[in-house]
Amino acid sequence: MKFISIKEAMKKGSGKVAIRGWVYRERGSNKFKFIVLRDVSDIIQCVIKKEKFGEDKFKEADKIQIECSTEIIGTIKPDKRAPTGFEIDVDEFTVVGWSDNFPISKHQSPEFLLDKKHLSLRMRRLSAIAKVKSTVLKAFREFYYKEGFYEAPMPILQPIQCEGGSTLFGVKYYDKQMYLAQSWQLYAEAMIFSLEKIFCIAPTFRAEKSKTSRHLSEFWMAEMEAAWYKLPELLNSAERCVEYIVKKVLDDNLEELKFLGAKIDKLKKVKVPFPRMTYTEVLEFLEKKEGKKIPWGKDLRTIEEDLLGKYFDKPVIITHYPKEIMAFYKPKDPDNPKVALCVDMIAPGGYGEIIGGSQRDLSVKDMTEMLKSMGEKPEDYDWYFDLRKYGSVPHSGYGLGVERVVAWICNSDNIKDVVAFPRTMLRFKP
Ligand code: 4AD
Ligand code: MG
Repeated sequence: MKFISIKEAMKKGSGKVAIRGWVYRERGSNKFKFIVLRDVSDIIQCVIKKEKFGEDKFKEADKIQIECSTEIIGTIKPDKRAPTGFEIDVDEFTVVGWSDNFPISKHQSPEFLLDKKHLSLRMRRLSAIAKVKSTVLKAFREFYYKEGFYEAPMPILQPIQCEGGSTLFGVKYYDKQMYLAQSWQLYAEAMIFSLEKIFCIAPTFRAEKSKTSRHLSEFWMAEMEAAWYKLPELLNSAERCVEYIVKKVLDDNLEELKFLGAKIDKLKKVKVPFPRMTYTEVLEFLEKKEGKKIPWGKDLRTIEEDLLGKYFDKPVIITHYPKEIMAFYKPKDPDNPKVALCVDMIAPGGYGEIIGGSQRDLSVKDMTEMLKSMGEKPEDYDWYFDLRKYGSVPHSGYGLGVERVVAWICNSDNIKDVVAFPRTMLRFKP
């Protein structure tokens, strides 16, 4: 018999089915063994009756423990008392892999579950999040392919910083010093002269000293870069992409979102246009609404982003941050040189910054000054400055934090739940 998924078996609803998976729960008496079997699609209750199997085979059933991998052939029928409304009366069962006492149960501390992540990632909540993550990755790709972009990977080993030297991870590269990518951007800026509109989803590394629930040392960034785009085109692209991602998850993962207790009504409101404010307007807004006075020129931090996120159901687009506190490649606004042509998108509900991007500076002079003030050696950026010498064009791009977006959509407490094997300052095993 061909194995089908538990979901397909329940769709069938009657007759003989063959399923396989892992034991999610079990209990027994001297006449029956009840097993709830789990596969990627769902769970289902199965009953093994002693009268059908006889003493010896029933003894085997009795030894089945949580996480035993098991194949089952039996007859499915609706049963209101069963956890998912169906039960399988087992005709044949094979234990494929026995299981020791499984260390994971509901009542363990988050730290213990993280220590055992290679096992706890089987938990249904984490599986649901992993499915949403898969959709988010697919949706980002789909969106940019439809927009005529090419997927163009760039090196992970890089000789220079992009987002500030203090969060670089150094790597010994033969007898030289290199760094793990903080961003795909600088190399992407070279590639747009060939492919014009490109994107990539890639691992990204930041030695973040902050132990917040939203910072990882290794995360995946979905980035795009496009020739001829200026800030307005960039903002449109970013908000339409986020709208597309959320819609795709609502279409493909409604069950998972329900299971996770996600804020589905709010997600349905994530439609363009998103609210837009300049940095300066944000300061005014927070002073008016929250009585919080932030001196102009100070970067917005977690607390301010959370305060702002309270007032909106949709992500908020913030532009024109103070030039001085921005990365070296973010250009001055010609209309107001104190601010940069840049954007952050803040998710509602306290999930913080999900997108950072900008138009790119075309002034080698301004970038050189900025790099010097950061203690960088401008000559290390000669190849990057070359891009401004040979047919330079206005261009823009952004990066989206994949784990942050998934945490927001899933209403997850901690970004660590969104990664199979999280890497933070304090956590790097297993
Ligand atoms: O704002 P960031 O630093 O922007 C860049 O790196 C640009 N070079 C991207 C570009 O223009 N192509 O990072 C982009 C996004 C942030 O908005 C955030 O969502 C996520 O990446 N991010 C992190 N996510 C998890 N853990 C961290 N430590 C993160 N740092 C940034
Ligand atoms: Mg940023």
